[in-house]
Amino acid sequence: MSFGKRSATARQPQPAPRPAGQAPAAQPKPPARPQGQGTPPKQPPKPGAQPPRTAASKPVDLKPPPDMEAEKIHKVDTRSEEYYATKTTIFNALIDTIDLGQLAQLDAASAREEIRDIVVEIISIKNVVMSISEQEHLLDDICNDVLGYGPLEPLLARDDIADIMVNGADTTYIEVNGKIERTNIRFRDNAQLMNICQRIVSQVGRRVDESSPICDARLLDGSRVNVIAPPLAIDGPTLTIRKFKKDKLRLADLVKFNSISEAGAEILRIIGHSRCNVLISGGTGSGKTTLLNCLTGFIDPTERVITCEDSAELQLQQPHVVRLETRPPNIEGSGEVSMRDLVKNCLRMRPERIIVGEVRGPEAFDLLQAMNTGHDGSMGTLHANSPREALSRVESMITMGGFSLPAKTIREMIVGSIDVVVQASRLRDGSRRIMCVTEVMGLEGDTIILQDVLKFEMDGEDEDGKVSGRHRGTGIGRPRFWERASYFNLERDLASAIDALDA
Ligand SMILES: Nc1ncnc2c1ncn2[C@@H]1O[C@H](COP(=O)(O)OP(=O)(O)OP(=O)(O)O)[C@@H](O)[C@H]1O
Ligand SMILES: [Mg+2]
Repeated sequence: MSFGKRSATARQPQPAPRPAGQAPAAQPKPPARPQGQGTPPKQPPKPGAQPPRTAASKPVDLKPPPDMEAEKIHKVDTRSEEYYATKTTIFNALIDTIDLGQLAQLDAASAREEIRDIVVEIISIKNVVMSISEQEHLLDDICNDVLGYGPLEPLLARDDIADIMVNGADTTYIEVNGKIERTNIRFRDNAQLMNICQRIVSQVGRRVDESSPICDARLLDGSRVNVIAPPLAIDGPTLTIRKFKKDKLRLADLVKFNSISEAGAEILRIIGHSRCNVLISGGTGSGKTTLLNCLTGFIDPTERVITCEDSAELQLQQPHVVRLETRPPNIEGSGEVSMRDLVKNCLRMRPERIIVGEVRGPEAFDLLQAMNTGHDGSMGTLHANSPREALSRVESMITMGGFSLPAKTIREMIVGSIDVVVQASRLRDGSRRIMCVTEVMGLEGDTIILQDVLKFEMDGEDEDGKVSGRHRGTGIGRPRFWERASYFNLERDLASAIDALDA
């Protein structure tokens, strides 16, 4: 049996055994807006009522709204104002003494030695009283400012931080445990922040300034960086870093965090092993790349895998992997290598599976073609809020990519290539969950038929504000990928995983 060539014709949905009276699995709807919030319905004005106050008549209140004042500050920096005063004195004296041009030519260790000697001298000349450990601490700090990423260093050193968001010199937010919190990290001024942004992007041969104020880059550890500078960013240079997690989460970790149930994880394992074509859909930071990385863990070590990413984040464990990365245009605006160029080139590299980090444009067409022509088990992520929306985004990416294909043909392509859509979500309590595992069944008329294999059902919130709920089966006895699973000898495993799903 071969799964290489797929028929693009409509597949009839299999009648799935459902408990009597149960409605077909529906897509999760966005929660209804709570009553009493949002804009209240407009009431007709009462006779004799005061006219509404106009902006001109209303006194301007410059104080921040009360909940901004109450914003919790995550104290990363515990040093005193006095420490900073001493540091500024020493730092200024250092900058007056040192030849920055010469320093730039030294390697990191020698530059550090050079700075150490001068700082020790300044401390003794200025009669600053300090213990050895305080001195070492100050030296580290100054070296970070001169050679490294300054105030960002303590944040970069922590592995529990997912994102660092710097909105100008005075405001830095981080994401820890799924929650965004403000920190007390500050830069001396916007010039220092800009300098650090420049240092980051120059490592990948790029430049950020007023004439090219938007820039993507990468830190040496693989973290993904975006910089947008004034005048586009109104309140100062804005830097966003998605920290590279050294120890990538695995499916077992996702089970531990309740992102998926054990039986759900087993179903994902079978989907990965049995070479289903998978799209992972979700919002920003919902855990799509993490999930993709987990699924790639089930690829057989004998397979040749090619990954295409904008910024290499995936960490495949298999020996036979070729990693490709797109290239943005250079300062003159030429030399761009797009995701589409990579995916097209991939097809000439004899891949067995193609993994696309994020599908966001016309490469959707090439990925579907690859899935359809013998590269089963290909995968990709995309931004969407539900499996249905994910498929319609694929359709619009193809339409907007200039392929003049009728909508029906594109939908036939979609159902002929994508087997499963996995939906990831970051919930309001900051937890990340797999919301559903959904199969693409076929076309009925012009409509793509989807079927949930499992879905997360929220039942409420506990007293700490944590969302509670369960991953439940939808009563499907035999998913469509049953045949594939049995081809890969996983029929029994699939049957027991489906039985183990909470009804
Ligand atoms: N199930 C999970 N439980 C806890 N943390 C998670 C989970 N999944 C992902 N994370 C963490 O959340 C952060 C964002 O994850 P990831 O990069 O996978 O999201 P993404 O959806 O790909 O984001 P983007 O839209 O920016 O590409 C990472 O730090 C990751 O370690
Ligand atoms: Mg991602």
